[in-house]
Amino acid sequence: MKHLISPSLLSGDFLHLQEDVEMINNSEADWLHMDVMDGVFVPNISFGFPVLNAVGKVCKKPMDVHLMIVEPQKFIPEVAASGAYMMNVHYEACLHLHRTVTAIREAGMKAGVTLNPHTPITLLEDILYDVDMVLLMSVNPGFGGQKFIEHSVEKTARLKDMIERKGLHTLIQVDGGVNLETGKRLLDAGADVLVVGNFVFNSPDPCQTIKELKEL
Ligand code: DX5
Ligand code: ZN
Repeated sequence: MKHLISPSLLSGDFLHLQEDVEMINNSEADWLHMDVMDGVFVPNISFGFPVLNAVGKVCKKPMDVHLMIVEPQKFIPEVAASGAYMMNVHYEACLHLHRTVTAIREAGMKAGVTLNPHTPITLLEDILYDVDMVLLMSVNPGFGGQKFIEHSVEKTARLKDMIERKGLHTLIQVDGGVNLETGKRLLDAGADVLVVGNFVFNSPDPCQTIKELKEL
């Protein structure tokens, strides 16, 4: 499968979000990544459901929602109502992860489980059969524009190996500090979906940057 690019709107211009979404619509981006933060699970607050709903109305690409919040299972109906394609919940935020990913799928969405940089992939051994995607954080979640954690490349390769050994087709998404250089190495290690925030939105020509990321 050709890899997918999911630009993160967290690095967009919040006064002109519609223009940014239209840029995404007209670009080669495959998905749109939406980062929801609560100031509890992560030390920052981004945006919530009113913004998700508004973007959902104009976005023509599948929305990939990354919930950096405690108790994400409480908000499955709200995320589904925004038109989201994929709902990512953090492993570290879910006491009953199997119940949560099952409920996400029952609500009509794809289910993703996200790991913080310090969380070992071995913890996925028994949930891998029930999720559509694993999102590996390659920065500590909470902010755009942070430095890529090198260890993420080797972690991606180990996860790819684990998925293949089980005969599964679970997607691997990587999020944080991705650019053309780190992106290439992640793809070589087995990543399927790259989330890219700062590198796209703060480039002189975001549409062209997305094209270059697609060509990796
Ligand atoms: C970080 C978010 C990311 C962020 C990535 O907590 O989950 O999606 O927007 O931004 P960059 O690509 O700038 O690291
Ligand atoms: Zn994210």
